[in-house]
Amino acid sequence: MKLVKLIANLGYGSRKQVTLMFREGRITDAAGEVLYADDAVAHDQVRVDGEPLDPPHGLLLMLHKPTGYTCSTKDPGRVVYDLLPPRHRLRDPVLSTVGRLDRDTSGLLLMTDDGALLHRITSPKAHLPKVYEAVLASDLRGDEADVFGSGTLMLESEKTPLAPAIIEPLGPRRARITLVEGRYHQIRRMFAAVGNHVESLHRHTLGGLGLGELAPGQWRMLDDADRTRIFAASS
Ligand code: URA
Repeated sequence: MKLVKLIANLGYGSRKQVTLMFREGRITDAAGEVLYADDAVAHDQVRVDGEPLDPPHGLLLMLHKPTGYTCSTKDPGRVVYDLLPPRHRLRDPVLSTVGRLDRDTSGLLLMTDDGALLHRITSPKAHLPKVYEAVLASDLRGDEADVFGSGTLMLESEKTPLAPAIIEPLGPRRARITLVEGRYHQIRRMFAAVGNHVESLHRHTLGGLGLGELAPGQWRMLDDADRTRIFAASS
């Protein structure tokens, strides 16, 4: 692929804008030599304004999603893309969220431009555990482990029962929940089904991957070791 197309596809600008960047000498190799639009140079050798290029197609990143942000490109309010460099929203293929977290849920969110990888992570067949912590409006009743773990709980307007989920009480109104699927508002609806209400929800891990030191609003690119970690926890 021509450099100009590659760089435009990474969201740095339209082809016309990127062509201008070449003319202005802003695109160089690692030694600082000015590059031309039709040069053939390895991806990791290209610099834009002295900075390495964003990763090529196959990018996977982890965001610590704060509450108040929507997993959407269209929402008129704050969206998770606002927390990334603006060019990430312009990448082709597009950068998508791997599943969704509700606007009022915080925690670990993956984003990728690799459709096959996205499918591998979100497919129910992957059985990747996702661990959440919920703060509840009312005390736990005591039968939630049986109800959530039964494999027979039917949520309103669903056609199949939920797969068994694990709940571990962490206090009278606090619980850790492990899911292997990801239905719409699943945890909020599960607690509604047992007469409770989720006041706050945070996702800690996905597969074998945790947030580590990432503060709310921060993100980082994932490497091969992180990818292995994600799938290490499938059952
Ligand atoms: N369950 C929910 O209810 N919301 C989320 O964001 C994730 C799981």
